[in-house]
This record gives sequence, structure tokens and C-alpha cells, in this order.
Amino acid sequence: MKFFLDTADLAEIEEAASWGALAGVTTNPSLYARIGGKLDDFHDHIKRICDIVDGPVSAESVAMTRDEIIADGRELARIADNVVVKVPTMVEGLAATKVLAAEGIPVNMTLCFTVPQAILAARAGARYISPFIGRFDDISEDGLTQLEQVVTAINNYDFGHDVEIIAASVRSANHVTQAALMGADIATVPFNVLKKCVEHPLTDRGLDAFLKDWEKVQNA
Ligand code: G3P
Repeated sequence: MKFFLDTADLAEIEEAASWGALAGVTTNPSLYARIGGKLDDFHDHIKRICDIVDGPVSAESVAMTRDEIIADGRELARIADNVVVKVPTMVEGLAATKVLAAEGIPVNMTLCFTVPQAILAARAGARYISPFIGRFDDISEDGLTQLEQVVTAINNYDFGHDVEIIAASVRSANHVTQAALMGADIATVPFNVLKKCVEHPLTDRGLDAFLKDWEKVQNA
């Protein structure tokens, strides 16, 4: 499974990239707003992310009609070769994906919650599909089971083009563990979750023990 970072924060992206495992980035308007993003700087900001990341960078279209999403998508795709246009799973989004995919512009269909939505996205030509885990958990449903169903269903078929599943709305290291066990291609994770994936209390305890023993060696 590959790791994407779910953020718009350049410092987080640079830090995660330095760890050697960053395969891509996903952003959305909420994440951009969270870092104080301004509309007129949005495309420049995507360009800055694309320059750091050696992999796909999903940039979301907030347009609501197919023609607007297509126009937006074409503009986003011109920013850099590694831009992926993130499009919501809805009728207008499917229609826009069909056109963008036919033009060779990769699409990440987001806000995907069900197997039928995922299959429709793949049929429309989506290169990536992003089933959400945490938002199901928010409404007391089991997001991991939903993700597992999407992974199984998508892997049942050949859609005639590469389709990768991005486990999204990831809130914990356990979400990452389960996504990997069920064979999701990618997990897109917030920086704090990525850090939790690196850490373990037994690793910390082991380090403490090594350091204490090393001190003894030095003072011997
Ligand atoms: O990639 C989608 C993700 O940003 C949504 O996460 O935590 O807002 O549900 P969350």
C-alpha cells in the first residue's frame, strides 16, 4: 500500500517527503482553508505542492455542473504533469470524469461511500477512487467494512484501465492497518496519523533502554 498525505500544508508535505515513503498528496477545500488559503493563490499553491511531491497530487474541483468541472479540471491539469483532478461522486461528476478521462486527464473520484458509486466511478474512467472511512464512523456506521466491500468489488472486474483505491477519511493508525490488510492500493492520511503510524510505545521503551545501557557503557 502506498502512503499519500491528506493535507495542503507545505511544511507537512516536505517533512513527510523527507521520510522517504510519500507517494502522493490529496487536498480539498477544507484542508486549504485550514492553512489560511486564499482563492487567488490556489493554483500557485497546487504548483508548489506538485514541485515537492514526486507522485500524483489530487486537486479538488468545487464546481457543481459537468461543464464547469470539465473546464476546472482542464485548468488544474495544466498546472503540472502530476495533477490529478479530484471530482465528487455525483451525476455531474461522472459526466465530467468521462470527458476528462477521455482527454487523458487523471481523475480521483472522491466522496465515494458505496460499491455502486465506486463501480460507476471506475466505469466513467476514474483513475483513482476514494472511499471514505471516518465519515461513516461519524454516523455510527462501520467505515472499514464499507471500504472492504469497495476493494472486493473493484478487484472483481477489469475496467480496461488502471484503477487504484485510495482509503480516505483516515483517522487512525488502525484505519491504515485495516486498509492495508484488505488490499487498498493507497491510504491518504493526515500528517498526525502518519506520525502515529511511525510511533509505538514499545519502540520508545526500547530506545530508552538502549540509551540507558549506552550510558552505562560510556561510564564503565
Ligand atoms: O481525503 C478526504 C479526507 O480529507 C476527508 O477526511 O477526516 O474530513 O473525513 P475527513
